[in-house]
Amino acid sequence: MEHQRVLVLDFGGQYNQLIARRVRDLGVYCDLKPCDLPLEAIKAYAPIGIIFTGGPNSVYGEDAPTADPALFGLGVPVLGICYGAQLIAHLSGGTVRHAPASEYGRREIELAAGSPLFAGIPKKSVCWMSHTDYVAEPPAGFSVLARTASCPVAAFGSEERKIYGVQFHPEVVHSEYGNKLLENFLYLICGAQGDWTMKNFAAEQIARIRERVGDRRVLCAMSGGVDSAVAATLVHRAVGDRLTCVFVDHGLHRKNEPEEVMSVFRDGLGMNLIMADAGERFLEKLKGVSDPEQKRKIIGKEFISVFEEEAKKIGAVDFLVQGTIYPDVIESGKGKSAVIKSHHNVGGLPDVVDFREILEPLRDLFKDEVRRVGTELGLSDGIVWRQPCPGPALAIRIMGEVTKEKLATLRDADAIFREEIASAGLAREIWQYFAVITDSKTVGVQGDFRTYENVIALRAVTSVDAMTADWARIPYEVLEKVSGRITNEVKGANRVVYDITSKPPATIEWE
Ligand code: XMP
Repeated sequence: MEHQRVLVLDFGGQYNQLIARRVRDLGVYCDLKPCDLPLEAIKAYAPIGIIFTGGPNSVYGEDAPTADPALFGLGVPVLGICYGAQLIAHLSGGTVRHAPASEYGRREIELAAGSPLFAGIPKKSVCWMSHTDYVAEPPAGFSVLARTASCPVAAFGSEERKIYGVQFHPEVVHSEYGNKLLENFLYLICGAQGDWTMKNFAAEQIARIRERVGDRRVLCAMSGGVDSAVAATLVHRAVGDRLTCVFVDHGLHRKNEPEEVMSVFRDGLGMNLIMADAGERFLEKLKGVSDPEQKRKIIGKEFISVFEEEAKKIGAVDFLVQGTIYPDVIESGKGKSAVIKSHHNVGGLPDVVDFREILEPLRDLFKDEVRRVGTELGLSDGIVWRQPCPGPALAIRIMGEVTKEKLATLRDADAIFREEIASAGLAREIWQYFAVITDSKTVGVQGDFRTYENVIALRAVTSVDAMTADWARIPYEVLEKVSGRITNEVKGANRVVYDITSKPPATIEWE
């Protein structure tokens, strides 16, 4: 079934993926594409609406990204947000000015004219601004739809041409009626029908996979993370026993993780799941190694060779399943950035496995959609809401050499932290939370005795996409409980500290 589609053109702003996620959440499929997508490609895409995102530039800047004005003649509704709005004004003959100071934060917005874009939105509400340039005069034929105290044209539009611009960011939660505005654009202006739901997606994908695979064989590297779990479950629903999953137990997983994976997927769902028990092998290779990048390389390489050995035992397969998701495939269109950490994931597998085609059933989905599909498929919250865990797992949360003793201490401390966050009801608010075992020991006193043990650090961050993050303001009582439990219950730990650094300048993981 073909879905209605909206095209989100990416002008480089920080909330761009968020815009696309909101549109999808409202039941309309959309793709985020670079802003220089040629007109012919835009026509071929046949969108029911086009959204221009924000971006860091000024329309007067030298390399300011632009759009083909012919796009406004396609008869397809357009909504420009922030830079996108300024660009529409600029290209259509309006006036864009540079303000002496940037405007940033919550502002009261007042409607100036009736428009379907603002249907059901009160005359005054709060919106989120983040800009320097602003539209001073809308283009001829466009009306001012809203203003704020400092922004004369907070929204403008032409009802006849169905082209609109908003200076504020409807996609962020601080814009009180932002979601309503996007919904109005999609449903009242673009004529969306809301045909994008995860229930439909799961059913369609299962049918599609079944047809594509036929009676051939499929192999999947299961990591225990939500993406590979959902991908494997979809494929399993489609082809049953013709799917074989391999879970590499590198001995660096969090407490009980391998057992849980086996019990949910092999025992519960009846998947053909092989566990490769390779913990000793990984520890051996990691002996004496304390450099983070070296740890990553060793683990990545070893992971591939263990998987290769298992795959050889299985023999040739026709398909390899990958848990690729949409953010992995979006072309950012921006320059290459410096390598801060070499991320190890299963991207290196295709070379060592004898297969013909790749199956990527989640390629079109954002993480929140993957979770919803997981729920549709009946996976538990424990699997679906599992926080992201890096490929090298606990190895990069152990400072210095990875040893059995440190692993045991960290596993227990981490499990307590996770338990307490969950029971305080904070699990979904926090992007990632975990314990780290530092490379220092400190003196403590327990009973009447001196102790000399490891310092455990707790790390918890809020984030949208892991590119930037802030340390989570966990209530003191929760921290107190975690600290009390770790120092009492965990062997090898006598002190707990809380990491209060944002990213940047720190990173989320300690290594
Ligand atoms: P950093 O520490 O760079 O982490 O702020 C950003 C996100 O990436 C995850 N991460 C990794 N994921 N292999 C992975 O698969 C890695 O080597 C790796 N290092 C960091 C990290 O957990 C966070 O979600």
